Amino acid sequence: MSNKNLSAAKNAKNDEFYTQYADIQKEINAYLDYNPDVFKGKTVLLPCDDPEWSNFTRFFAQNFETLGLKKLISTSYAPDAKKEKYGILFEYAAEQNGGRPQNERGKIFVLDHDTNASGRIDFDDLEWDYLDGDGDFRSEEVCKLRDEADVIVTNPPFSLFREFLAWILDGKNCLAQRRRGAEVGSRVPRDHDGNGLAAKNAKVAKKFLIIGNMNAIKYKETFPLIKANKMWLGATGNGTDMVFGVPETAIISQYDRDKAAKMGYVGNYTRLGNSCWFTNIEHGRRHQPLQLMTERENIKYSRHKEVRGIGYRRYINFDGIEVPYVDAIPSDFDGVMGVPISFLDKFCPEQFEIVGMSLDLADMSVIRERLGRNDGGPTFYIEKDGNPVRLYDRLAIRFRRSK
Ligand SMILES: C[S@@+](CC[C@H](N)C(=O)[O-])C[C@H]1O[C@@H](n2cnc3c(N)ncnc32)[C@H](O)[C@@H]1O
Repeated sequence: MSNKNLSAAKNAKNDEFYTQYADIQKEINAYLDYNPDVFKGKTVLLPCDDPEWSNFTRFFAQNFETLGLKKLISTSYAPDAKKEKYGILFEYAAEQNGGRPQNERGKIFVLDHDTNASGRIDFDDLEWDYLDGDGDFRSEEVCKLRDEADVIVTNPPFSLFREFLAWILDGKNCLAQRRRGAEVGSRVPRDHDGNGLAAKNAKVAKKFLIIGNMNAIKYKETFPLIKANKMWLGATGNGTDMVFGVPETAIISQYDRDKAAKMGYVGNYTRLGNSCWFTNIEHGRRHQPLQLMTERENIKYSRHKEVRGIGYRRYINFDGIEVPYVDAIPSDFDGVMGVPISFLDKFCPEQFEIVGMSLDLADMSVIRERLGRNDGGPTFYIEKDGNPVRLYDRLAIRFRRSK
C-alpha cells in the first residue's frame, strides 16, 4: 500500500468509529442524574452522524419523550465524500432517488412530532431528506443547523477534532472562512501563561458532548477551556477502554480486535484505550473531592515505591513537586504539584485549581544549560543520581485553599 493510502487508512480507521448504545446511555444518564431537565425543551443536533450506523440518532430518538426534547436533528456525511477522503476503503451501494444515485449528498433526519399517529414520538417518526451538499459539518447548511441547536452531541471524526471543537465554540462557518483565505484549524496562539487567546475569551453558550482522544487535553484549542473550567471530561469511560463498531472494510489491528472481543464485542469492533468524552454539561462525578493522605502518611503508607519512604522530588526547571500518581497527592501540601494528565478524570474544581501544563510552564533553558543541548519539547525534569530525568506531560495543580 502506498504511503498516501496508508495515511488515508489511518485516518479512516479513526474517523469511522461508531459509538456503542450502552456507552451513550451511561453517559447521558450521568447528566440526567445531576439535572433531570437538562435536555428539556432543547434542540439537539447530532452532526457527523450516520444514522444507518450510528447509535446517537437511535438513542436520542428512542428517548425523545423521556428527555423532553423539542427537536432532534441528525446529519450524515455523503458516501462519496467519504470515498474521496478515504480512497478505496469504503464501498457503498448507490442509493436511488428517482433513478439518480445520491451518494454525493449528505442526509438530514429530523424528529419533532408524532408523524405516524402512534401516540408517541420515537425513532419511527424520524423524517429524512437529502441535504443540498455533502453534509460536511463546516458547510453553510450544517452551520445553520448548529446555530439553531442548543446542544451538540457526537463522536466527530478524530482527524478533525480541533476544527470540530472550534466549529462549536466560535460559531463561524469554517469553510466560508477557508474560501476567504483564513487559516482553518490553525493553532490558537498562546499568551505568556499558556492560554489560547481565542479559547480563553470564548463565551461557550452552546452545550456540547463530544468524544475525543485524551491527548486532545494538551491542544492549544482545548487546554485553555479546561483550565478556565469551560470544558471538562465527561462522567464515564475516561481512561478505560471504549469499544467502537467499525465498517467491515476498516483496517483494525488484531490486538485491538482481540481486546474488544475480550470485552464481549466479537466481529467488527475495536477499542480505544485513551478516548474520552469532552463536555460543558454539568455532572455530579466532577464535584466529588478526592480523599487523600497527608504528605507524612504518603511517605509512610503509599503503595507507590516512588513515594513510600522517599517523599516528593522538586522539579529542577519549575517551582513545584512531582506527584507521579493521582492517589499520592499530599492533602496538606500548599504549593504547586505536577500530576499525570489522567488527573483530569478525578478533577473536582472546588478542590483544585489547574495552574497550567508542563508544556507551557517548564523552563527549558535550565535543562539546556545542564545538558549542553536541547532535549525535546518542554516538560518538567527531576534530578536522579545527579542527572536530569525527563518526565511525561504534567498538569500543574494546587489546592483551592492554598491560594
Ligand atoms: C467517528 S465517526 C462517528 C460516527 C457517529 N457519530 C458515532 O459515534 O457512531 C465520525 C463520522 O463523521 C463522518 N465525517 C468525516 N468527515 C466529516 C466531515 N467533514 N463532516 C461531517 N462528517 C464527517 C465520518 O464519515 C463518520 O461517519
